[in-house]
Amino acid sequence: MSRIIRIFDTTLRDGEQSPGAAMNLDEKLMVAKQLARLGVDIIEAGFAYSSPGDFEAVRRIAQEVEGPVICSLARARPEDVDRAWEALKGAPKVRIHTFISTSDIHLKHQFRLTRDQARERAVEMVTRARGYVEDVEFSPMDATRSDAKYLYEVLEAVIGAGASTVNIPDTVGYATPHEFGRLIRGIRENVPNIKQAVISVHCHNDLGVAVANSLAAIVEGAGQVECTINGIGERAGNASLEELAMGLRTRKDFYGADTHIVTEEITKTSRLVSNVTGMVVQPNKAIVGANAFAHASGIHQDGLLKDKTTYEIMRPESIGLGKSTMVMGKLSGRHAFRQHLEDRGYKLTEDELNKAFERFKRLADQKKEVYEEDIEVILTEELQTIPETYRLLSLHVESGTGMTPKAEIELDVDGNRMRREGNGDGPVDAAYRTIAAMTQTKSTLIAYVVKAITGGTDAQGEVMVKVEEGPKTVTGHGADTDIIVASAKAYLNALNKLEHWKRKGNEAKINYI
Ligand code: KIV
Ligand code: ZN
Repeated sequence: MSRIIRIFDTTLRDGEQSPGAAMNLDEKLMVAKQLARLGVDIIEAGFAYSSPGDFEAVRRIAQEVEGPVICSLARARPEDVDRAWEALKGAPKVRIHTFISTSDIHLKHQFRLTRDQARERAVEMVTRARGYVEDVEFSPMDATRSDAKYLYEVLEAVIGAGASTVNIPDTVGYATPHEFGRLIRGIRENVPNIKQAVISVHCHNDLGVAVANSLAAIVEGAGQVECTINGIGERAGNASLEELAMGLRTRKDFYGADTHIVTEEITKTSRLVSNVTGMVVQPNKAIVGANAFAHASGIHQDGLLKDKTTYEIMRPESIGLGKSTMVMGKLSGRHAFRQHLEDRGYKLTEDELNKAFERFKRLADQKKEVYEEDIEVILTEELQTIPETYRLLSLHVESGTGMTPKAEIELDVDGNRMRREGNGDGPVDAAYRTIAAMTQTKSTLIAYVVKAITGGTDAQGEVMVKVEEGPKTVTGHGADTDIIVASAKAYLNALNKLEHWKRKGNEAKINYI
């Protein structure tokens, strides 16, 4: 029987720290529900004290997401621990994760604490958190650059105070797999009460070895890994969940360990996170990159035709990457649509179902066959509740060789109908310039990505944009069988998010220290 390694997903906390990856509440809820379907054991839903938005995200996820333990991060400060508890209380399965640095570099230059003071703070905050919940995790930040003897002492003290998980972060991605494995072994051998806690690891990818370090730690007895979807996270990111899960599953013979991950949900989760964060997955990324299962060389293709095992160590279906399956068509009714979503674990309110069904019907009219991927995109867009300050009413573009592209757009702006014409270098440029003039936005478009959701010339095009105004970057999304309409929707979605952020009163997160 394989040892089960707990998967602690921090996409919504450390992952969200990636520049420009901020998610709004609806997006976080959507990701958290998908993480539950993926089978993660723990979701770090945010850092409740850091902002009202993070607090609300932790609270709603704790209340609404069934299955995983929901966790909030808290610095080793009373106000943080109390706020984490306020966000989590009343929910069935919760954890408080508190942390303080243990490396001399951090203690001296950043925290301005002595080793003794840091150990005392850690013990006090674990004790405080245990006053609220049974499940308490402690992290000695920058563990890999800490003095090992001091680290053992801190771990012994926090376990004595009731920490049930001790998480060893390689905060700056400095360790090598051998060293990190040795560190975990050292902890097992030198912390007298270590058996009373689960050893967890949290590796950053600055030198490209976050997954290798995590696997080395598992070999030495770590029972939990902290990771993110697509490996997103601070700087070069965190260990990638999908690489860890598939590494353990594919090489169970070597690791003798597995996870609860429902690997068939990996592709869907990766796409959702990429869509809502605007962080595009590199094509050659292991497991979820567009080329991860694409065999280009003639020799490989020849081998595969003879027998899949010649060049394929994992089946694409095992990560939910099959042939696109036609799921519904023009004649499918509301009941069948609801059943289809429920079979896939989506529980929608009546209102959400109506919106999604209406959109599905429009798409089914335009496109003969509606695929699973089309439905995912409909849900990503329709389950958002960002107020629509700007709504597209109609769009006409004229473009072609030998003419200046022209766009004619009608928008509903805060309840008022507006119409305008404009020109540009191409049809998308004409549409974007016209929208910018109508909304008088001061933002700058910093990324525009378009892709086809499924095959065929009648496929929906999906457009993702990133828009920046002052300190705020937001992503916008739009899908339609007409690529110019999809582009306009994506731009308006981003502008609506910016507007929402401005009207809410520019909430900023506090610092980590
Ligand atoms: O990288 C890190 O050290 C962290 C801690 C808060 C666990 O993210
Ligand atoms: Zn981290």
